[in-house]
Amino acid sequence: MNEFTGKLGEPGDIGITPWTPNYVQVPGVGGGQAKQPYVDFGGGVMTDTEKYTSPQVLQQEWDRLFSKTWFICGHLNDIPLKDSFMTTEVGRESFVIIRGEGEEVRAFYNICQHRGTILVNQDFGKQKRWGCPYHKWIYNNDGTLHDLPGRETFREETLCHHNLDLAPAQVATFRGFIFITMNPDPVPLDDYLGERFRGMLEAYDLDNFIRLYDIRQVWDVNWKVAMEAFIEGYHVTAVHHATLTPVLDDYYVQHDSYDNGQGRSIFPFCEPAPSYLRGIGRDLSAPNEGMIAFLDSAGLAPEEYPSDWHDVKRAVIDGKRRNQDKLGFDYAKFTDDQLVDDWNMSFFPCATFNLHPEGVLFQRWMPDARDPMKTHYSLQIYAMKGDCKIPFYMPIDPAADRTGKEVLGVTRVPGMGGEACGPVVMEDVAFIERFQQGVESRGFKGAVMGEQEIRVRRFYDEYYKYMNGQK
Ligand code: FES
Ligand SMILES: [Fe+2]
Repeated sequence: MNEFTGKLGEPGDIGITPWTPNYVQVPGVGGGQAKQPYVDFGGGVMTDTEKYTSPQVLQQEWDRLFSKTWFICGHLNDIPLKDSFMTTEVGRESFVIIRGEGEEVRAFYNICQHRGTILVNQDFGKQKRWGCPYHKWIYNNDGTLHDLPGRETFREETLCHHNLDLAPAQVATFRGFIFITMNPDPVPLDDYLGERFRGMLEAYDLDNFIRLYDIRQVWDVNWKVAMEAFIEGYHVTAVHHATLTPVLDDYYVQHDSYDNGQGRSIFPFCEPAPSYLRGIGRDLSAPNEGMIAFLDSAGLAPEEYPSDWHDVKRAVIDGKRRNQDKLGFDYAKFTDDQLVDDWNMSFFPCATFNLHPEGVLFQRWMPDARDPMKTHYSLQIYAMKGDCKIPFYMPIDPAADRTGKEVLGVTRVPGMGGEACGPVVMEDVAFIERFQQGVESRGFKGAVMGEQEIRVRRFYDEYYKYMNGQK
Protein backbone atom coordinates (compact mmCIF):
# COMPACT_ATOMS: atom_id res chain seq x y z
CA MET A 1 0.00 0.00 0.00
CA ASN A 2 1.20 3.45 -0.86
CA GLU A 3 2.12 5.34 2.32
CA PHE A 4 1.41 9.02 1.78
CA THR A 5 4.24 11.15 2.98
CA GLY A 6 3.08 14.64 2.15
CA LYS A 7 2.63 15.42 5.80
CA LEU A 8 1.83 18.67 7.42
CA GLY A 9 4.88 18.60 9.65
CA GLU A 10 5.04 17.22 13.16
CA PRO A 11 2.73 18.85 15.69
CA GLY A 12 4.51 21.51 17.64
CA ASP A 13 7.38 22.06 15.24
CA ILE A 14 6.38 25.65 14.51
CA GLY A 15 7.95 26.62 17.82
CA ILE A 16 5.62 29.55 18.41
CA THR A 17 2.37 30.15 20.18
CA PRO A 18 -0.27 29.62 17.53
CA TRP A 19 -2.02 32.69 16.22
CA THR A 20 -5.55 32.56 17.62
CA PRO A 21 -7.64 35.59 16.76
CA ASN A 22 -10.40 37.09 18.75
CA TYR A 23 -12.90 37.55 16.01
CA VAL A 24 -15.18 40.22 17.40
CA GLN A 25 -13.82 43.63 16.59
CA VAL A 26 -16.89 45.81 16.84
CA PRO A 27 -17.56 46.92 20.41
CA GLY A 28 -20.93 45.94 21.77
CA VAL A 29 -21.48 42.89 19.57
CA GLY A 30 -20.58 39.85 21.59
CA GLY A 31 -19.53 36.73 19.71
CA GLY A 32 -20.91 34.19 22.09
CA GLN A 33 -19.94 31.20 19.96
CA ALA A 34 -17.90 28.62 21.81
CA LYS A 35 -14.43 28.36 20.37
CA GLN A 36 -13.17 24.82 20.05
CA PRO A 37 -9.79 24.05 21.60
CA TYR A 38 -6.84 24.82 19.33
CA VAL A 39 -5.59 21.70 17.59
CA ASP A 40 -2.00 21.75 16.44
CA PHE A 41 -1.77 20.38 12.91
CA GLY A 42 1.93 21.08 12.66
CA GLY A 43 3.95 23.52 10.66
CA GLY A 44 1.83 23.54 7.55
CA VAL A 45 4.37 22.49 4.92
CA MET A 46 2.92 19.96 2.49
CA THR A 47 5.25 18.45 -0.07
CA ASP A 48 2.87 15.94 -1.64
CA THR A 49 1.96 17.56 -4.98
CA GLU A 50 1.00 14.34 -6.79
CA LYS A 51 -2.31 14.29 -5.02
CA TYR A 52 -3.59 16.98 -7.40
CA THR A 53 -2.78 15.16 -10.63
CA SER A 54 -2.18 11.44 -10.23
CA PRO A 55 -4.70 8.87 -11.54
CA GLN A 56 -3.28 6.39 -9.01
CA VAL A 57 -4.07 8.77 -6.15
CA LEU A 58 -7.57 9.24 -7.54
CA GLN A 59 -8.05 5.47 -7.50
CA GLN A 60 -6.71 5.27 -3.94
CA GLU A 61 -9.02 8.12 -2.87
CA TRP A 62 -11.86 6.13 -4.30
CA ASP A 63 -10.88 2.89 -2.54
CA ARG A 64 -9.87 4.37 0.81
CA LEU A 65 -11.84 7.58 1.25
CA PHE A 66 -14.91 7.96 -0.95
CA SER A 67 -16.12 4.43 -0.35
CA LYS A 68 -16.15 5.09 3.41
CA THR A 69 -17.42 8.56 4.27
CA TRP A 70 -20.89 10.10 4.34
CA PHE A 71 -21.90 12.60 1.62
CA ILE A 72 -24.50 15.28 1.89
CA CYS A 73 -26.64 15.01 -1.22
CA GLY A 74 -29.96 16.79 -0.79
CA HIS A 75 -32.84 17.65 1.48
CA LEU A 76 -36.11 16.03 2.43
CA ASN A 77 -37.86 19.03 0.88
CA ASP A 78 -36.33 18.04 -2.49
CA ILE A 79 -38.40 14.84 -2.26
CA PRO A 80 -41.39 16.21 -0.36
CA LEU A 81 -44.03 13.55 -0.97
CA LYS A 82 -44.31 9.80 -0.67
CA ASP A 83 -42.76 8.30 -3.85
CA SER A 84 -40.78 11.47 -4.67
CA PHE A 85 -37.24 10.63 -5.72
CA MET A 86 -33.98 12.25 -6.68
CA THR A 87 -30.77 10.97 -8.20
CA THR A 88 -27.29 11.98 -7.17
CA GLU A 89 -23.77 11.20 -8.37
CA VAL A 90 -20.87 10.39 -6.11
CA GLY A 91 -17.78 10.08 -8.29
CA ARG A 92 -18.32 7.10 -10.55
CA GLU A 93 -21.53 6.04 -8.78
CA SER A 94 -25.12 7.12 -9.23
CA PHE A 95 -27.79 6.69 -6.55
CA VAL A 96 -31.54 7.03 -6.46
CA ILE A 97 -33.03 8.30 -3.21
CA ILE A 98 -36.73 7.78 -2.54
CA ARG A 99 -39.14 9.23 0.00
CA GLY A 100 -41.32 6.70 1.82
CA GLU A 101 -43.91 7.23 4.52
CA GLY A 102 -43.30 10.30 6.69
CA GLU A 103 -39.58 10.96 6.97
CA GLU A 104 -38.55 7.52 5.72
CA VAL A 105 -35.90 7.63 2.99
CA ARG A 106 -34.43 4.77 0.99
CA ALA A 107 -31.37 4.80 -1.27
CA PHE A 108 -30.22 2.39 -3.95
CA TYR A 109 -27.41 2.22 -6.44
CA ASN A 110 -29.06 3.50 -9.60
CA ILE A 111 -28.05 0.39 -11.54
CA CYS A 112 -30.26 -2.13 -13.30
CA GLN A 113 -29.41 -5.62 -12.11
CA HIS A 114 -29.91 -7.14 -15.55
CA ARG A 115 -26.80 -5.85 -17.32
CA GLY A 116 -25.89 -2.78 -15.36
CA THR A 117 -27.50 0.13 -17.18
CA ILE A 118 -28.14 3.35 -15.25
CA LEU A 119 -31.81 2.97 -14.38
CA VAL A 120 -33.18 6.46 -13.64
CA ASN A 121 -31.94 9.48 -15.57
CA GLN A 122 -34.08 12.22 -14.02
CA ASP A 123 -32.77 14.57 -11.33
CA PHE A 124 -36.08 14.71 -9.46
CA GLY A 125 -39.50 13.13 -9.89
CA LYS A 126 -42.30 11.14 -8.32
CA GLN A 127 -43.26 7.61 -9.32
CA LYS A 128 -43.71 4.16 -7.89
CA ARG A 129 -41.89 2.16 -10.54
CA TRP A 130 -39.07 2.60 -12.99
CA GLY A 131 -38.46 0.74 -16.24
CA CYS A 132 -34.89 0.23 -17.35
CA PRO A 133 -34.46 1.85 -20.77
CA TYR A 134 -32.39 -1.04 -22.17
CA HIS A 135 -34.59 -4.18 -21.94
CA LYS A 136 -37.45 -2.85 -19.79
CA TRP A 137 -36.90 -4.66 -16.52
CA ILE A 138 -39.30 -2.95 -14.10
CA TYR A 139 -38.40 -2.07 -10.50
CA ASN A 140 -40.64 -0.97 -7.64
CA ASN A 141 -39.44 2.04 -5.72
CA ASP A 142 -38.78 -0.17 -2.68
CA GLY A 143 -35.97 -1.63 -4.80
CA THR A 144 -37.63 -4.95 -5.60
CA LEU A 145 -37.75 -6.29 -9.13
CA HIS A 146 -41.38 -6.09 -10.25
CA ASP A 147 -41.26 -7.77 -13.62
CA LEU A 148 -39.07 -8.58 -16.56
CA PRO A 149 -40.20 -9.13 -20.14
CA GLY A 150 -39.70 -12.60 -21.60
CA ARG A 151 -39.18 -14.19 -18.21
CA GLU A 152 -39.77 -17.63 -19.76
CA THR A 153 -36.63 -17.18 -21.88
CA PHE A 154 -34.35 -17.13 -18.81
CA ARG A 155 -33.36 -20.38 -17.17
CA GLU A 156 -34.62 -20.51 -13.62
CA GLU A 157 -31.14 -21.08 -12.18
CA THR A 158 -29.95 -17.92 -13.98
CA LEU A 159 -32.58 -15.78 -12.31
CA CYS A 160 -31.79 -17.39 -8.95
CA HIS A 161 -28.09 -16.72 -9.40
CA HIS A 162 -28.20 -13.62 -7.23
CA ASN A 163 -30.65 -11.17 -5.74
CA LEU A 164 -32.12 -9.20 -8.65
CA ASP A 165 -33.43 -6.33 -6.54
CA LEU A 166 -31.66 -2.96 -6.63
CA ALA A 167 -28.54 -2.83 -4.47
CA PRO A 168 -29.18 -0.71 -1.36
CA ALA A 169 -26.96 2.09 -0.06
CA GLN A 170 -26.93 3.50 3.46
CA VAL A 171 -28.89 6.70 3.90
CA ALA A 172 -29.56 8.93 6.91
CA THR A 173 -30.81 12.44 7.58
CA PHE A 174 -29.66 15.24 9.79
CA ARG A 175 -32.09 18.13 10.37
CA GLY A 176 -33.68 17.61 6.94
CA PHE A 177 -30.46 17.14 4.97
CA ILE A 178 -29.96 13.72 3.37
CA PHE A 179 -26.62 11.91 3.48
CA ILE A 180 -25.59 8.67 1.80
CA THR A 181 -22.59 6.41 2.07
CA MET A 182 -21.26 3.43 0.17
CA ASN A 183 -19.84 2.03 3.39
CA PRO A 184 -21.98 -1.02 4.25
CA ASP A 185 -21.05 -0.63 7.92
CA PRO A 186 -20.59 3.10 8.53
CA VAL A 187 -20.31 4.97 11.77
CA PRO A 188 -23.79 6.40 12.42
CA LEU A 189 -24.24 9.78 10.73
CA ASP A 190 -24.79 11.51 14.07
CA ASP A 191 -21.39 10.27 15.27
CA TYR A 192 -19.72 11.14 11.96
CA LEU A 193 -20.90 14.73 12.28
CA GLY A 194 -20.15 14.73 16.00
CA GLU A 195 -22.12 16.08 18.92
CA ARG A 196 -20.40 19.47 19.10
CA PHE A 197 -20.74 20.13 15.38
CA ARG A 198 -24.41 19.18 15.43
CA GLY A 199 -25.00 21.14 18.61
CA MET A 200 -23.75 24.45 17.27
CA LEU A 201 -26.30 24.24 14.44
CA GLU A 202 -29.24 24.07 16.81
CA ALA A 203 -30.69 27.54 16.21
CA TYR A 204 -30.73 27.24 12.42
CA ASP A 205 -34.01 26.03 10.97
CA LEU A 206 -32.36 23.58 8.59
CA ASP A 207 -35.38 21.26 8.46
CA ASN A 208 -37.46 23.98 6.81
CA PHE A 209 -35.03 25.07 4.13
CA ILE A 210 -36.14 24.74 0.51
CA ARG A 211 -33.91 24.66 -2.56
CA LEU A 212 -34.13 27.88 -4.56
CA TYR A 213 -31.10 27.62 -6.79
CA ASP A 214 -29.27 24.64 -8.26
CA ILE A 215 -26.53 24.75 -10.84
CA ARG A 216 -24.01 22.11 -11.86
CA GLN A 217 -20.74 22.56 -13.71
CA VAL A 218 -17.71 20.51 -14.63
CA TRP A 219 -14.50 22.19 -13.54
CA ASP A 220 -11.08 21.42 -15.00
CA VAL A 221 -9.38 21.12 -11.61
CA ASN A 222 -8.75 18.48 -9.00
CA TRP A 223 -11.56 18.32 -6.41
CA LYS A 224 -9.13 19.19 -3.58
CA VAL A 225 -7.90 22.32 -5.37
CA ALA A 226 -11.53 23.46 -5.37
CA MET A 227 -12.25 22.42 -1.78
CA GLU A 228 -9.12 24.17 -0.47
CA ALA A 229 -10.24 27.47 -2.00
CA PHE A 230 -13.45 27.50 0.00
CA ILE A 231 -12.20 26.63 3.47
CA GLU A 232 -9.75 29.46 4.03
CA GLY A 233 -10.18 33.23 4.07
CA TYR A 234 -6.55 34.16 3.56
CA HIS A 235 -7.26 34.83 -0.13
CA VAL A 236 -10.12 37.26 0.53
CA THR A 237 -8.02 40.42 0.50
CA ALA A 238 -6.47 39.54 -2.86
CA VAL A 239 -9.36 37.82 -4.63
CA HIS A 240 -12.44 39.49 -3.16
CA HIS A 241 -11.09 42.98 -2.54
CA ALA A 242 -13.97 44.62 -4.39
CA THR A 243 -16.86 42.45 -3.23
CA LEU A 244 -16.01 41.37 0.30
CA THR A 245 -13.28 43.45 1.96
CA PRO A 246 -15.50 46.55 2.38
CA VAL A 247 -17.93 44.49 4.40
CA LEU A 248 -16.21 41.38 5.75
CA ASP A 249 -13.33 40.96 8.16
CA ASP A 250 -11.09 38.26 6.71
CA TYR A 251 -8.42 38.45 9.41
CA TYR A 252 -10.02 38.27 12.85
CA VAL A 253 -11.83 35.06 12.04
CA GLN A 254 -12.68 32.28 14.45
CA HIS A 255 -11.65 28.89 13.05
CA ASP A 256 -12.92 25.73 14.72
CA SER A 257 -12.01 22.10 14.12
CA TYR A 258 -14.52 19.40 14.94
CA ASP A 259 -14.42 15.62 14.96
CA ASN A 260 -13.96 13.62 11.75
CA GLY A 261 -12.71 16.53 9.65
CA GLN A 262 -15.71 18.83 10.06
CA GLY A 263 -14.91 22.53 10.44
CA ARG A 264 -16.29 26.00 10.87
CA SER A 265 -15.01 29.55 10.45
CA ILE A 266 -16.97 32.58 11.60
CA PHE A 267 -16.37 35.50 9.26
CA PRO A 268 -17.61 38.77 10.74
CA PHE A 269 -19.80 40.74 8.35
CA CYS A 270 -20.38 44.51 8.61
CA GLU A 271 -16.76 44.88 9.70
CA PRO A 272 -14.35 45.81 6.89
CA ALA A 273 -11.19 43.78 6.35
CA PRO A 274 -8.04 45.30 7.85
CA SER A 275 -6.69 45.64 4.29
CA TYR A 276 -9.70 47.78 3.39
CA LEU A 277 -9.32 49.95 6.47
CA ARG A 278 -5.68 50.55 5.56
CA GLY A 279 -6.69 51.77 2.09
CA ILE A 280 -5.36 55.21 1.36
CA GLY A 281 -7.89 57.91 0.64
CA ARG A 282 -10.93 55.82 1.51
CA ASP A 283 -13.84 57.59 3.07
CA LEU A 284 -14.32 55.45 6.15
CA SER A 285 -16.74 57.70 7.93
CA ALA A 286 -19.98 56.38 6.47
CA PRO A 287 -21.39 52.93 5.69
CA ASN A 288 -20.24 51.69 2.30
CA GLU A 289 -22.39 50.04 -0.36
CA GLY A 290 -22.05 46.51 1.08
CA MET A 291 -23.02 47.71 4.52
CA ILE A 292 -26.02 49.50 3.07
CA ALA A 293 -27.13 46.15 1.60
CA PHE A 294 -27.08 44.73 5.14
CA LEU A 295 -28.94 47.74 6.58
CA ASP A 296 -31.52 47.32 3.87
CA SER A 297 -31.87 43.60 4.66
CA ALA A 298 -32.66 44.57 8.26
CA GLY A 299 -35.57 46.72 7.11
CA LEU A 300 -33.91 50.08 7.81
CA ALA A 301 -34.89 53.15 5.80
CA PRO A 302 -32.04 55.39 4.54
CA GLU A 303 -32.79 58.03 7.17
CA GLU A 304 -32.16 55.38 9.84
CA TYR A 305 -28.68 54.46 8.56
CA PRO A 306 -25.97 55.24 11.09
CA SER A 307 -23.47 57.89 10.06
CA ASP A 308 -20.42 55.87 11.19
CA TRP A 309 -19.63 52.38 9.91
CA HIS A 310 -18.71 51.24 13.43
CA ASP A 311 -22.39 51.42 14.31
CA VAL A 312 -23.64 49.44 11.32
CA LYS A 313 -23.39 45.96 12.81
CA ARG A 314 -25.34 46.98 15.89
CA ALA A 315 -27.92 48.74 13.72
CA VAL A 316 -28.38 45.64 11.53
CA ILE A 317 -28.86 43.40 14.55
CA ASP A 318 -31.28 45.76 16.27
CA GLY A 319 -33.10 46.35 13.00
CA LYS A 320 -33.58 42.62 12.36
CA ARG A 321 -34.98 42.12 15.84
CA ARG A 322 -37.19 45.22 15.76
CA ASN A 323 -38.49 44.58 12.23
CA GLN A 324 -38.79 40.83 12.35
CA ASP A 325 -42.55 40.81 11.71
CA LYS A 326 -42.12 43.01 8.68
CA LEU A 327 -39.14 40.90 7.54
CA GLY A 328 -41.13 37.69 7.89
CA PHE A 329 -38.55 35.92 10.01
CA ASP A 330 -38.29 34.92 13.66
CA TYR A 331 -34.83 35.93 14.90
CA ALA A 332 -35.54 35.34 18.59
CA LYS A 333 -33.49 32.16 18.99
CA PHE A 334 -30.36 33.49 17.29
CA THR A 335 -27.51 35.26 19.05
CA ASP A 336 -26.61 38.77 17.89
CA ASP A 337 -23.59 37.73 15.87
CA GLN A 338 -25.53 34.97 14.09
CA LEU A 339 -27.83 37.62 12.63
CA VAL A 340 -24.94 39.09 10.67
CA ASP A 341 -21.88 36.84 10.41
CA ASP A 342 -21.10 34.18 7.84
CA TRP A 343 -20.57 30.68 9.14
CA ASN A 344 -18.38 28.88 6.64
CA MET A 345 -18.61 25.19 7.45
CA SER A 346 -17.04 22.11 5.93
CA PHE A 347 -18.59 18.68 5.77
CA PHE A 348 -15.71 16.29 5.23
CA PRO A 349 -14.71 15.38 2.61
CA CYS A 350 -16.09 17.63 -0.11
CA ALA A 351 -18.92 20.02 0.78
CA THR A 352 -19.30 23.39 2.43
CA PHE A 353 -22.06 25.57 3.82
CA ASN A 354 -22.09 29.35 4.03
CA LEU A 355 -24.77 29.55 6.64
CA HIS A 356 -27.05 32.38 7.75
CA PRO A 357 -30.37 32.23 9.60
CA GLU A 358 -32.26 32.97 6.38
CA GLY A 359 -30.48 30.52 4.11
CA VAL A 360 -27.40 28.58 3.14
CA LEU A 361 -25.15 28.53 0.10
CA PHE A 362 -24.19 24.90 -0.34
CA GLN A 363 -21.30 23.75 -2.52
CA ARG A 364 -20.06 20.26 -3.29
CA TRP A 365 -17.03 19.10 -5.30
CA MET A 366 -17.09 15.51 -6.47
CA PRO A 367 -14.13 13.91 -8.20
CA ASP A 368 -14.63 12.71 -11.74
CA ALA A 369 -14.80 8.95 -12.19
CA ARG A 370 -11.55 8.78 -14.18
CA ASP A 371 -9.87 12.14 -14.58
CA PRO A 372 -8.07 13.57 -11.52
CA MET A 373 -8.17 17.02 -13.14
CA LYS A 374 -11.98 17.16 -13.36
CA THR A 375 -14.47 18.00 -10.65
CA HIS A 376 -18.25 17.83 -10.71
CA TYR A 377 -19.48 20.94 -8.98
CA SER A 378 -22.89 21.65 -7.44
CA LEU A 379 -23.95 25.03 -6.14
CA GLN A 380 -27.28 25.13 -4.38
CA ILE A 381 -29.02 27.70 -2.29
CA TYR A 382 -31.49 26.61 0.31
CA ALA A 383 -33.52 29.26 2.10
CA MET A 384 -36.52 29.65 4.30
CA LYS A 385 -39.92 29.69 2.65
CA GLY A 386 -41.57 33.08 2.41
CA ASP A 387 -40.18 36.50 1.65
CA CYS A 388 -37.31 37.02 4.07
CA LYS A 389 -34.26 38.65 2.48
CA ILE A 390 -31.47 36.31 1.47
CA PRO A 391 -27.83 37.37 1.97
CA PHE A 392 -26.78 39.71 -0.80
CA TYR A 393 -24.09 37.50 -2.33
CA MET A 394 -26.47 34.63 -3.12
CA PRO A 395 -27.73 34.87 -6.72
CA ILE A 396 -31.45 34.39 -6.11
CA ASP A 397 -33.94 35.85 -8.54
CA PRO A 398 -36.36 38.02 -6.51
CA ALA A 399 -39.19 36.40 -8.50
CA ALA A 400 -38.17 32.84 -7.51
CA ASP A 401 -40.99 30.65 -6.18
CA ARG A 402 -40.57 30.44 -2.41
CA THR A 403 -43.69 28.55 -1.49
CA GLY A 404 -41.97 25.16 -1.47
CA LYS A 405 -44.75 23.72 -3.64
CA GLU A 406 -42.60 23.21 -6.73
CA VAL A 407 -39.47 21.07 -6.74
CA LEU A 408 -36.86 23.11 -8.57
CA GLY A 409 -34.98 21.51 -11.48
CA VAL A 410 -31.23 21.47 -12.04
CA THR A 411 -29.51 23.87 -14.45
CA ARG A 412 -26.35 22.54 -16.05
CA VAL A 413 -24.14 25.49 -16.92
CA PRO A 414 -21.24 25.02 -19.35
CA GLY A 415 -17.76 26.17 -18.42
CA MET A 416 -16.44 27.15 -15.02
CA GLY A 417 -17.84 29.88 -12.81
CA GLY A 418 -19.30 32.95 -14.43
CA GLU A 419 -22.33 34.92 -13.42
CA ALA A 420 -24.37 31.81 -12.60
CA CYS A 421 -22.21 31.38 -9.50
CA GLY A 422 -22.96 34.83 -8.10
CA PRO A 423 -20.47 37.67 -7.66
CA VAL A 424 -18.26 36.17 -4.93
CA VAL A 425 -17.97 32.52 -6.01
CA MET A 426 -17.40 33.79 -9.55
CA GLU A 427 -14.26 35.53 -8.31
CA ASP A 428 -13.03 32.33 -6.65
CA VAL A 429 -13.62 30.22 -9.73
CA ALA A 430 -11.92 32.70 -12.04
CA PHE A 431 -8.82 32.11 -9.99
CA ILE A 432 -8.98 28.36 -9.34
CA GLU A 433 -7.89 27.28 -12.84
CA ARG A 434 -4.67 29.19 -12.32
CA PHE A 435 -4.13 27.41 -9.04
CA GLN A 436 -4.52 24.02 -10.75
CA GLN A 437 -2.05 24.99 -13.48
CA GLY A 438 0.50 25.94 -10.84
CA VAL A 439 0.23 22.78 -8.74
CA GLU A 440 0.95 20.73 -11.88
CA SER A 441 4.29 22.50 -12.36
CA ARG A 442 7.67 20.93 -11.60
CA GLY A 443 8.51 24.28 -10.08
CA PHE A 444 5.95 23.79 -7.32
CA LYS A 445 7.66 22.29 -4.29
CA GLY A 446 4.54 22.00 -2.14
CA ALA A 447 2.23 24.22 -0.13
CA VAL A 448 3.23 26.34 2.85
CA MET A 449 0.23 27.14 5.01
CA GLY A 450 -0.35 29.56 7.83
CA GLU A 451 -2.79 29.68 10.68
CA GLN A 452 -5.41 31.44 8.54
CA GLU A 453 -5.37 28.25 6.47
CA ILE A 454 -5.78 25.94 9.43
CA ARG A 455 -8.93 24.38 8.06
CA VAL A 456 -7.04 23.28 4.95
CA ARG A 457 -4.50 21.70 7.31
CA ARG A 458 -7.36 20.11 9.25
CA PHE A 459 -8.79 18.76 5.99
CA TYR A 460 -5.50 17.10 5.03
CA ASP A 461 -4.95 15.73 8.51
CA GLU A 462 -8.21 13.81 8.10
CA TYR A 463 -7.57 13.02 4.42
CA TYR A 464 -4.26 11.30 5.17
CA LYS A 465 -5.87 9.26 7.94
CA TYR A 466 -8.07 7.67 5.28
CA MET A 467 -5.36 7.50 2.65
CA ASN A 468 -2.93 5.82 5.04
CA GLY A 469 -5.52 3.30 6.21
CA GLN A 470 -5.90 4.67 9.74
CA LYS A 471 -9.64 5.18 9.16
S1 FES B 1 -29.80 -3.61 -18.58
FE1 FES B 1 -31.64 -3.00 -17.64
S2 FES B 1 -33.12 -4.21 -18.55
FE2 FES B 1 -31.32 -4.84 -19.46
FE1 LIG C 1 -13.22 33.04 -1.90
